[in-house]
Amino acid sequence: MRKVTVPDLTQKKAASEKIVMVTAYDAPTAALIDASDVDVILVGDSLGNVIQGRPNTIGVTMDEMVYHTKIVSRRTKRALLVGDMPFMSYQASNQQALTNASRFLKESGAESVKLEVNEQYLDTIGILAKAGIPVMGHIGLCPQSLHLMGGYKVQGRGEGEAHRLMRLAKDVEERGAFSLVLESIPQRLAKSITESIKIPTIGIGAGPHCDGQVLVFHDLIGLTEEPMPRFVKKYANVREVMLKALAEFSREVKEGTFPGQEHYYD
Ligand code: KIV
Repeated sequence: MRKVTVPDLTQKKAASEKIVMVTAYDAPTAALIDASDVDVILVGDSLGNVIQGRPNTIGVTMDEMVYHTKIVSRRTKRALLVGDMPFMSYQASNQQALTNASRFLKESGAESVKLEVNEQYLDTIGILAKAGIPVMGHIGLCPQSLHLMGGYKVQGRGEGEAHRLMRLAKDVEERGAFSLVLESIPQRLAKSITESIKIPTIGIGAGPHCDGQVLVFHDLIGLTEEPMPRFVKKYANVREVMLKALAEFSREVKEGTFPGQEHYYD
């Protein structure tokens, strides 16, 4: 088993090898993903929607992120572990960003942090990177800016916006980020960005030309209830399997066939 490191992602881009990233929020899921050949585990603030049942990620706290990252890290031995900085954990000041980003590394076992960024947070990336904290940037559709964007909408449409995102991607690289998530932008723009920067891009709803792809674990295994965004592909229907198991358990308890002799003690 070879540990995936931050420099490995850069090398993968140089070698034209695709990067695979998946979210995890708990220990058993982390163990499962770690046993696969997925490169990166992201403890995303999407846990607000996926685990906490919130309508969006805005309410997720730093303590919750540290808790989930800590339990994921206990079962992550091989994959690179990224902790997602939640809303208002870095926006107030660079000092706040340093304090919270270092909590991820010191308290939770994360090896890097992800930040949803716009032009205002370029300095923050530089300060974290100089302090030795590997930063994954995230541009395009940034769910923490949901209200500003007026909903979950494809970003970077139109020449002006596309130009802005291209500039932003280059600036994120220049400030020292080691990788960049591109969310819900036109595939042609994602291709141009990917070809214009040396750090790897990891796409979600950004088409096939990114250096890697990320999906939310619960979406890709088919545990999330429909409808799901267009960019999700369901690789299994775990929800159906689980519902069937629950229905069978319930039926057997009610008809008295569970527990059977082999399930109890004399
Ligand atoms: O929070 C998250 O899970 C994310 C990924 C979907 C990129 O930001």
